[in-house]
Amino acid sequence: MALPESSRFQLTPDMSICRVLNGMWQVSGAHGPIEPNAAVDSMLAYHDSGLTTWDLADHYGPAEDFIGQFRQRLADSQGQAALRQVQAFTKWVPRPGPMTSSIVEGRIDVSLKRMNVEALDMLQFHWWDYDDPRYLDALHHLAQLRDEGKIRHLGLTNFDTATLEKIIDGGIGIVSNQVQYSLVDLRPEVQISQFCQAHDIRLLAYGTLCGGLLSDKYLGQPEPTPGELNTASLRKYKQMIDTWGGWDLFQELLTTLDVVATQHDVSVANVAVRFVLDRPAVAGVIVGARLGVAEHLKDNARVFDIYLSEEERERIQAVTSRGRDLFAVIGDCGDEYRRLII
Ligand SMILES: NC(=O)c1ccc[n+]([C@@H]2O[C@H](COP(=O)([O-])OP(=O)(O)OC[C@H]3O[C@@H](n4cnc5c(N)ncnc54)[C@H](OP(=O)(O)O)[C@@H]3O)[C@@H](O)[C@H]2O)c1
Repeated sequence: MALPESSRFQLTPDMSICRVLNGMWQVSGAHGPIEPNAAVDSMLAYHDSGLTTWDLADHYGPAEDFIGQFRQRLADSQGQAALRQVQAFTKWVPRPGPMTSSIVEGRIDVSLKRMNVEALDMLQFHWWDYDDPRYLDALHHLAQLRDEGKIRHLGLTNFDTATLEKIIDGGIGIVSNQVQYSLVDLRPEVQISQFCQAHDIRLLAYGTLCGGLLSDKYLGQPEPTPGELNTASLRKYKQMIDTWGGWDLFQELLTTLDVVATQHDVSVANVAVRFVLDRPAVAGVIVGARLGVAEHLKDNARVFDIYLSEEERERIQAVTSRGRDLFAVIGDCGDEYRRLII
């Protein structure tokens, strides 16, 4: 399965990514058990099919180690040169505390070792408390490590517009910010998308499939009980759907997506991803993969086969606009990590 040229995005002058990134939160243990060998086998299949870009984090269980093992097996089977086709974006999500250069560098060294790389393709930084300004110390040290070559690019995750502006004003070059962005959660369109476009920063979207709820599987289905929500993603995004408009409105959204999907002979998930991929500032959509457990590889590749017309987008927006204004309810991107427990 070869992906078309349109599957790629030139994120930086030296790095092209696949616009559907493989999300590795799903190997953390919070989404059920993962068998390491099966997971790494599956990573090779994703890579070979053109889905070459990975999103992970220091705290996603064995995710960084899986990247290390995957790289080793790829080099063994296809040669060292094949490693140049891999992009692996990890995160650092520290507990608030002192951010000295040795603490920051020590942490980066751990990721380098686990992932078996000489430089991190991208380090995405998260911070829990903006009243604690030590995030600026951390970012200055990270920028230094980038300049020294241990990190190729610096990104963020869940930063809101006001804090992103402070970082940019502080002269720290940022490539991307990873935020929740879906047909249910369109908060990025209120502020941060415009800010990012003005400052040449890209958005990487997550939660675009609401943990799998935004798919054919839940079309026409009764509201899942808490016991049926058996992954951390399903629980997180079910709460988001409840805050947005509830299960009945969500079913209307699925039905509308299904009509569009049927016209294109693709899946509901494809339409949900395509819609976000086409938004300005969005470089890619991260789709979670329960590696070795459940695979949607071929289906997700079909997102590159479709084009949504203006009329189709409007039909979808006619439903999403009936949901509550999540920017007013929760706040800007990432505020759910600072105000609500979602
Ligand atoms: N920065 C942050 O704070 C943050 C937060 C959350 C996530 N993320 C990143 O984003 C990634 C995505 O995770 P997410 O939690 O947002 O989940 P998601 O991508 O919205 O949903 C992933 C789930 O959707 C289902 N799925 C995938 N493709 C499908 C298809 N074509 N048809 C039907 N179902 C499909 C799968 O469910 P089954 O496995 O049940 O089949 C999969 O586990 C994470 O792995 C992580 O890398 C980042």
